[in-house]
Amino acid sequence: MIFVTRKAHFNAAHRLHNPKKSEEWNRETFGKCNYPNWHGHNYVIEVTVAGEADPDTGFVIDLGKLKGIIREKITEPCDHRNLNLDVPFMEGIMPTTENLAKAFYKELKEEVEAIAYDDSVLYSVKVFETERNIAEYCPYRMKE
Ligand code: NI
Repeated sequence: MIFVTRKAHFNAAHRLHNPKKSEEWNRETFGKCNYPNWHGHNYVIEVTVAGEADPDTGFVIDLGKLKGIIREKITEPCDHRNLNLDVPFMEGIMPTTENLAKAFYKELKEEVEAIAYDDSVLYSVKVFETERNIAEYCPYRMKE
């Protein structure tokens, strides 16, 4: 199996806040990410497709086309936006790094797999909120 990864980035604002919990709980749990008037992150994402290479092209997936899908589905809707308020597919979802990784995966899966070679799959989506805070969604690994 071959793993092919395309990287992208966007800047966005968010706030982590659970309205079911007290102000104190939210401050203690989310720290700076709970500041009431939003704050930004320079997000980096890594989208990984796994499969075999097409014998005609040598590609698991055409990275130019993958770039276009990531732009349309993720970076256009998210870049310079507020992830709590502006992004339709994040409605009602707390924009933690974990939840973003899962939501991005769901947004990308169908279109990515439609253009990937044969039965290649969207393997994982990794989201870097900072250089040191990273979440990865990978449904295949969960089944092991
Ligand atoms: Ni934050």
